[in-house]
Amino acid sequence: MMDVFNIALLGFGNIGSGLAEVIERNRSRIDEALGDEICIKYVLDLRDLSDTPYAACAVHDFEIILNDPSVVLVCEMMGGLHPAFDYSMAALKAGKSVITSNKEVVAAEGTALLQTAKDHGVFYLYEAAVGGAVPILHAIRLFLAGTDIRRIDGILNGTTNYILTRMDNCAATFDEALAEAKKQGYAEVNPSADINGLDTCRKLCILIGAAWGQSLQPASVFYEGIDHITTEDHDFAKRCGGILKLAATALQQNDGSLAAAVSPCVVLDENPLQTVADVFNAVRIRAQDTGDLMFYGQGAGRYPTAGALVSDILDVACQRGVQRSWQTFTGKLIRYEDALWDWCLEIDDQKSFAALGLERAVILNRAEGRYDLFVPQISQKELAARLQGCSVLHQMRALN
Ligand code: HSE
Repeated sequence: MMDVFNIALLGFGNIGSGLAEVIERNRSRIDEALGDEICIKYVLDLRDLSDTPYAACAVHDFEIILNDPSVVLVCEMMGGLHPAFDYSMAALKAGKSVITSNKEVVAAEGTALLQTAKDHGVFYLYEAAVGGAVPILHAIRLFLAGTDIRRIDGILNGTTNYILTRMDNCAATFDEALAEAKKQGYAEVNPSADINGLDTCRKLCILIGAAWGQSLQPASVFYEGIDHITTEDHDFAKRCGGILKLAATALQQNDGSLAAAVSPCVVLDENPLQTVADVFNAVRIRAQDTGDLMFYGQGAGRYPTAGALVSDILDVACQRGVQRSWQTFTGKLIRYEDALWDWCLEIDDQKSFAALGLERAVILNRAEGRYDLFVPQISQKELAARLQGCSVLHQMRALN
C-alpha cells in the first residue's frame, strides 16, 4: 500500500494551475517514480477556485499549510518577492522542502533560503526558475557537481527571444511580438523585467550561485535589454554573420574573479546558441573536464515550467542530488567596461584601419565608407580609446 505524499501549491495562476494539471495528467507515472501517491492537499490563492477542481482544498491562510505536519513539500509559484520569500522561509523552518519557479525570490534571497534548508535537513530547489523546461540546474547540481565550471553563456528569457525572432524572421513590430508573447503566457504580468534584461540577469545570478556557490545581487551585474533594438541592429548582426540575441555570460578567471553581463549580442555562426529561436532558451556551459555542453528547451510557458517543477518534486521525494549553499560573493567582480569581451562593430572609415591599433580585428565587410569589424578580447574602455575619432555606427558584444 502506498503512502500519501502531500504537497501544497502557493499560487494558482498560469504556472500553478499548469502544475496541478500536469500532476493529474501524469499521476500514475509520477506516483510510480515517487513510490508514494501524490496529493495536492492545499492550494493557496486569493480566489476561492470554485470554478476549478481545487475548490475543496483552496485556502487563503498560509498558517493552515504551515501547521499541517502531513504537508512535506511546498511548491511556491506566487511571483514577486513578498510574501513568497516569507512563506518559503517559514516552510523550510517548519521542516518542509520548498520548490519554486520564482526567480525574483531565488536571485534575491537564495543564500538565506538554501542555508535554512540545509540547517533543517530539507531541500530548496529552483529548476523552474531558470530556463523553463531546460534541465540546467539538474545538470549543475547532479552531472557537473564534481567538475570545475569555467564559463556560462545563455539565452535565458523566452519573451525577448520570441520578440527578437519575430522581428527578425516575420518583420513583426516590437509591440506585435510582445502582444503575442503575452498571449502565449510567456511574458511576466509586467513585462518590463523581460524587456529591460532584469529577468535574464536574475537567472544569470541564479546560475552563478549554483555553479560557483557565489551569490551576486542582480543590481551588481551589468544588464541591458532590447527596448532600443531596431531593424538596423538585426541587419548589422546579419552582415557580421550572426543573429541578434539577448545573451547572458558569466566567466570565472583563474584568480577566482568573475565577469558577468547581460546584453544584446551578435551570436556568430560558430556558436550553437545562434539556432535558439522563438520561446526556446539554451545554456552553454564550459567545464574543465567535460568541455562544452549545451542544454536546450522551452524557456517559458505553463507546461514546460510545470515539467521542471515536477522534476524537482521527484528530486525532493527521492532525496536526489547535492544541494550546494551559496556564500555572499566577496571576490572581485570585474566591471563590465573593464572585462575582456569579443565585439562586432560598424565604423566609418575616416580614420585608416591601421591607425586604430586593433591588430587582431578582422574586417567582415567594407562598403560605402564603412567597415564591419570583429574585434576579439578587448575591454569596452580600451576599445573606446582606440576608436576615438571614428564614428561608431554599431557596437555590440559578440559570442563566437
Ligand atoms: N517571462 C519569463 C520568460 C518567464 O519569458 O522567460 C520564464 O521565466
